Amino acid sequence: MTGEDELIGSLPPDFRWGVGSSAYQIEGAVSEDGRTPSIWDTWAQSPWSVDNGDTGEIACDHYHRMPADIALLKELGVDTYRFSVSWPRVQPRGRGGVNPAGIAFYDRLVDELLNNGIDPWLTLYHWDLPQHLEDAGGWPARDTAVRFADYAMLVFERLGDRVRHWTTLSEPWCTAMHGYVHGVMAPGRRDAKAGMAAAHHLLLGHGLAVRRMRELAKPGTKFGITLNLSTADPETPSEADREAARFEDGLGTRFYLDALVHGRYPEDVLETLARQGIRLPSEPWDPAIIAAPLDFLGVDYYFGTRYSGVEENGNAVEHFGLPAFRKVPFGVPSTVLGWEILPHKLTELLVRIGRDYPGLPLYVTENGAAFADVPDETGFVRDDDRAAYLSAHIAATAAARQAGADVRGYFAWSFLDSFEWAYGYAKRLGLVRVDRETQARTIKQSGLAYRDVVHRVRGSR
Ligand code: NOJ
Repeated sequence: MTGEDELIGSLPPDFRWGVGSSAYQIEGAVSEDGRTPSIWDTWAQSPWSVDNGDTGEIACDHYHRMPADIALLKELGVDTYRFSVSWPRVQPRGRGGVNPAGIAFYDRLVDELLNNGIDPWLTLYHWDLPQHLEDAGGWPARDTAVRFADYAMLVFERLGDRVRHWTTLSEPWCTAMHGYVHGVMAPGRRDAKAGMAAAHHLLLGHGLAVRRMRELAKPGTKFGITLNLSTADPETPSEADREAARFEDGLGTRFYLDALVHGRYPEDVLETLARQGIRLPSEPWDPAIIAAPLDFLGVDYYFGTRYSGVEENGNAVEHFGLPAFRKVPFGVPSTVLGWEILPHKLTELLVRIGRDYPGLPLYVTENGAAFADVPDETGFVRDDDRAAYLSAHIAATAAARQAGADVRGYFAWSFLDSFEWAYGYAKRLGLVRVDRETQARTIKQSGLAYRDVVHRVRGSR
């Protein structure tokens, strides 16, 4: 046995194993049954937004193939399926009553999962804001937080009897920063003030939704949020590098977790924002709402980072009104998204989160890799690179548990090759290959290897 195998073998039999997806990335059927456009439909239509002009119009056609896809999940042997609900499908105008045909899809999906012995792990928001709400101001507008809580209740009233794990938001940092500050994702705005207001309102929407859903929840229902987290190291022990790493960690990690867990934003981040002329639009009662008790934290991990505070010209670079520091590569191999492969940083991250925010059960809700898959004539992909990536990161998760982090599950990203946002379909992360011409699904070598890991750990009962 290798050290990796031993670590994986140390995971308990009740460890949760899943795969994940999100609505816009797989569903397609964008104008069916009353769904209205989301900001991603609009953004994908605009020139230069998505590689190759790809859109989610058809995606994996999951909306029409759902039962067969659930059968594939069963073949993968997972006990949990993490998916998201499309807001514009369920509440097309972003306000008002539920769209019966839209919610019916998720109703069927949940039943199909349960009938197959797979636990639904539902995310309410994975980036597809109804365009109607963006037109009314989007996440920088406070009203969107209130709208989100209303939408959450519509879904909860219908599915709260069967779904036990509810995630409000997936990766709010990405929405705030990539969507509203860097302008590289929908809705493509470039305004730091708007981005920080968006970050605050996303968290406020989360808190409002959790409070309201919890009032109606059956005992045993769990509420949480998923954050994209990373380690942030200084390149050298110099003051400037340490400051740079601390700022990036503040903006990416502590901003969210301090607010969610301790009910306050980190002072050092607020001070830096103030120097840039940015004040969060926080009312005195907002922090208590945001800090609504959480039952779990989802951690999405892809890579570690390190920063230099010193640019060639002697200064940190500025990005649309926010300081931003130079990322310094570690010089290790990368996936085809250019993300360096650093499994030990996942161990470090989980241990650190467990130490700094104790008492919060952790789940790795996303981890995975894009590689240049080459199918054989039957569509089978021998992706030993992805299998090795997953195995190394599962072992890293087990190492974090051994070091005391309360990690209870691992969900590989992603179930299917899907619409990889601004990269379109060319970047494949699936455990299951999807042929873009025929929509044929073929479980990859990595999917088979993942199934074996799950069986082995469960079997050691
Ligand atoms: C995080 C996002 O949540 C997911 O939608 C995306 O596909 C993966 N990262 C990979 O980029």
